[in-house]
Parts: sequence; structure tokens; C-alpha cells
Amino acid sequence: MDDKKPERVRRERYKGTHPKSYKEKYKELQPDIYKEDIAKVMDQGRTPAGMHRSICVNEIMKFLSIVPGQIGLDATLGYGGHSAEMLKLLLPGGRLYAIDVDPIELPRTRDRLAALGFGPDVLVIKKMNFSGIDQIASEAGPLNFVLADLGVSSMQIDNPERGFSFKIEGPLDLRLNPNSGKPASALLKNISLQKLEDLFIENADEPYAEKIAKAIITRIEKGVLIATTTHLQQIITEALEFLPANTRKELTKKSCQRCFQALRIAVNDEFGVLDKFLEKLPLALAPGGRVAILSFHSGEDRRVKKSFQSLFREGIYSEIAPDPIRPTAEESNTNPRARSAKLRWAIMK
Ligand SMILES: C[S@@+](CC[C@H](N)C(=O)[O-])C[C@H]1O[C@@H](n2cnc3c(N)ncnc32)[C@H](O)[C@@H]1O
Repeated sequence: MDDKKPERVRRERYKGTHPKSYKEKYKELQPDIYKEDIAKVMDQGRTPAGMHRSICVNEIMKFLSIVPGQIGLDATLGYGGHSAEMLKLLLPGGRLYAIDVDPIELPRTRDRLAALGFGPDVLVIKKMNFSGIDQIASEAGPLNFVLADLGVSSMQIDNPERGFSFKIEGPLDLRLNPNSGKPASALLKNISLQKLEDLFIENADEPYAEKIAKAIITRIEKGVLIATTTHLQQIITEALEFLPANTRKELTKKSCQRCFQALRIAVNDEFGVLDKFLEKLPLALAPGGRVAILSFHSGEDRRVKKSFQSLFREGIYSEIAPDPIRPTAEESNTNPRARSAKLRWAIMK
């Protein structure tokens, strides 16, 4: 018998003590195995790679007042944190429909929730846009509650291959569903100077929209291909070199964040689908049904507020949030991604 021990394959180690690249964070990407490491990252106020920390969970659950037997919809499944809480409250007897446009994260979340005991008998997951909320209602019947937690998840932002972040090089994509529509790089190739400037202003209130749009279009006209997140960041940085040195770095970072947000909103038609969702909501809700919407920037919040107010005036909603609910200071301190969140709610007559 050959008693030679198999050669031990060494796992690739970090170059330093702090893993930087997404792939090096393999512990964070396996939360079930590395529980202590995950807890350490969260204690530092960071979200582990491959995870998403649900925002305003207590405030949302308190408002939705879910009871066993109810049927509801999580219109933005994401990591499934809100869904798991809603499921605990509606069982036994209830059912949750949960949808998301993201074909990459959705199967992972389905597996994660199934491992927690939430199988297809109580949780119906579909890959679809929430602008089709009427289809869910025609299948499920009138909904007792609906939650929409708008925008992107931390998993999407942190994965460089998705092209949501300019901190790491990745393709300039920004699509929530990379199998549909066109990436941001294609949008930039075909847009006019005026339209790009308008897009930065309308989608993100960018104060340097004109200068940044000019810098981008000048390069496109010279045949430069802007295909990566870091290339776009570099162009924005160069366009803002006129800013005073003492504030340049911080202001440039904020402009990059806003311009990426504006492009993301455009490639995913985020305002268009939100408008459709808000319009169809009353047709999907049961009498007394409750809806909560968590938004992360003024363009979204304005739409939610206007729709709720106008449907309240028409007598379709019996009650709406007088003011947006904000995360507690404690939540914002421990999860910086919660800082811009605003929660609004409405109750059907
Ligand atoms: C902030 S995350 C949701 C996180 C989730 N509440 C949790 O607790 O893990 C937003 C999610 O909504 C999805 N999404 C954004 N717009 C959508 C739309 N129009 N239809 C369906 N899903 C959408 C994104 O793909 C993302 O996964």
C-alpha cells in the first residue's frame, strides 16, 4: 500500500493582513462557515462582502403589522433579510411572494432562505420587475402587505464584475439584470452632450454636470472607449481638477458617486419602473393592505411622496406617513449604507 500522504494544497493567502480585493475576502463570502469573522467585520461598521444588511427592519415590521395567514409581497428580495422577518410573522398559514430582477443573486437568496426552512410552499420567488406587480396580484389575490426596498444591494455594489463601484476596476455595466438592456458603457457611446448633462442633473442633482458631461463626450468624440468603472472615475477626476486642492478629493468622490448613481438609474429605467409600480399598487393591495417603501435618494423619495399624497387625496389610501421615517442614529452608525434611507408608508382604504 502506498502510505505517502497526499500533498497538502495550500489556500491562497492574503498579501497583507487586510484582504482588499473582492476575491480575497473569501471568508466574508462564506458567512455560514466564518461566523466570527463576519461578526468582526460588522462590529467595525462594515458590511461583509457578499452580504447585505437589511435597513429599518424594526420600523418596517412594526408598520406592516403582519399576522399569521397573511399574503404579502417583497418587491425587492435582495439578500432576503426583510423576507425572512416577514416570513416568521406570517407563518403558519401565510405566504410570501418575493421578486427581484437580479438573475445572479436571486438563486443564491433562494438557497439561503430554503436552508432557513422557507421553501416554495410558503415562499414563491420570481425573477421579475416590480413594475409587473399586477401579475403577482392576479396570481396571489389581493395583498395584505407590500415592501419595496429600492436601489441596489451590497452584494451588487461589492462585486466588481457588476460594475456598480468605481473603487475597483470592473466593466462599466451597472445593470441590475445583466441579461437585459444595455450597459452604461453603451449608453455613453450613443448619448448627446445635452442629454448626458440633463441625466446627471435629473437623476442625481450633480452640480458639475456640465463639466463632467463635456469631459466624457469630448473623449467619446475622439473615439475613446469608456469601458471600465475606473476609467470613468479618472475622467470625472480630471474634469474636476479646477476645484480647490483642499476640498477636491472629497468633492470628486461625491461627484463620482452621483454620476454612477445617475447612470445606474438610467440604464435600469429606475424612475420609469417605480412610477409604474406606484400607479399599480392600489390595484394589488387588499382593503386595509399596507405598503412600505424605503428609498435612498431624493428622486425616488419625491415620487413615492407625490404618489402617496395624490392617492390619499383621491381617497384611495386611508392614511399615509406624515413624514418619512429615518433609521435610528445607532443604525446609521453601525451601517453607513442606512444613512440616506427614508421610509414612507400608506394604508389602503
Ligand atoms: C436594497 S436591495 C434589497 C435588500 C433586501 N430588502 C434585503 O433585506 O436583503 C434592492 C434589491 O432590489 C432589486 N431591484 C431593484 N429594482 C428592482 C425592480 N424594478 N424590480 C425588482 N427588483 C428590483 C435589486 O436587484 C436588489 O436586489
